[in-house]
Amino acid sequence: MEQLMYYDEEEEWNKALLLYNAALKEFSTKLEILNNEFKLAHQYNPIEHITSRLKSAQSIARKMRIKQKELTVENIIRYINDVAGIRIICTFTSDIYRIADAITNQNDVTTLKIKDYIANPKPNGYTSYHMIVSVPIFLSNDVIDTKVEIQIRTIAMDFWASLEHKIYYKFEGKAPEGIREELRECANIISFLDQKMLSINESVKNYHKDFNGGDVVNNDIDSISNTLKPLYGSIYTD
Ligand code: GTP
Ligand code: MG
Repeated sequence: MEQLMYYDEEEEWNKALLLYNAALKEFSTKLEILNNEFKLAHQYNPIEHITSRLKSAQSIARKMRIKQKELTVENIIRYINDVAGIRIICTFTSDIYRIADAITNQNDVTTLKIKDYIANPKPNGYTSYHMIVSVPIFLSNDVIDTKVEIQIRTIAMDFWASLEHKIYYKFEGKAPEGIREELRECANIISFLDQKMLSINESVKNYHKDFNGGDVVNNDIDSISNTLKPLYGSIYTD
């Protein structure tokens, strides 16, 4: 990343990296807390795993070339929304919306953009839920809202997207129609698979009330009693 910018921009870029990195940490912590809460309340884990990354210098440079913008720190911050990126892999499609809501409902999070490619798949068959969200980063003398791209998808959607991504790059975006058609067919199968797995999970719950592959959400924070709630943030005085 160091060689990316003109030398006089190095300091500015290091500040940007500090902020993007801090934003990844803030969201990673938020997600870990949500996942732990779900586990405790429902003996069930809506998040299979989470990955996060800062966009590589090469990818930033490529994107700026495509956008036909000069490679400056200001332009990167202005035009690239996914310098900081988090990918959340869930078990069921219903978990995706549950996680997305839990994030956007947080007071310190600003939702800048939502793209629901699950409700509206891309023509190639791509499905995922995308959010651009920002969180305030507290520095010694400043507070900077910093954006992160969050992609939320099921294991099956992730399987499809990683194969499609590899194929796309192999053919430099110009895969033969036959292969593109097969990918679209796979996307349909995957969508069917996700629905089927969810409905099996629901059926098992009819037999075993304690079965928890994906419990219905009841506002989880309500499970902390009203008596205890204020005590967490106060000190006792007699
Ligand atoms: P960029 O594509 O990031 O320039 O911005 P955009 O405004 O088009 O955002 P969008 O939300 O459509 O895509 C953001 C990211 O989602 C991409 O960088 C990819 O990581 C992923 N993505 C979007 N479309 C596809 C797709 O067709 N296939 C795969 N494998 N990934 C995709
Ligand atoms: Mg991207």
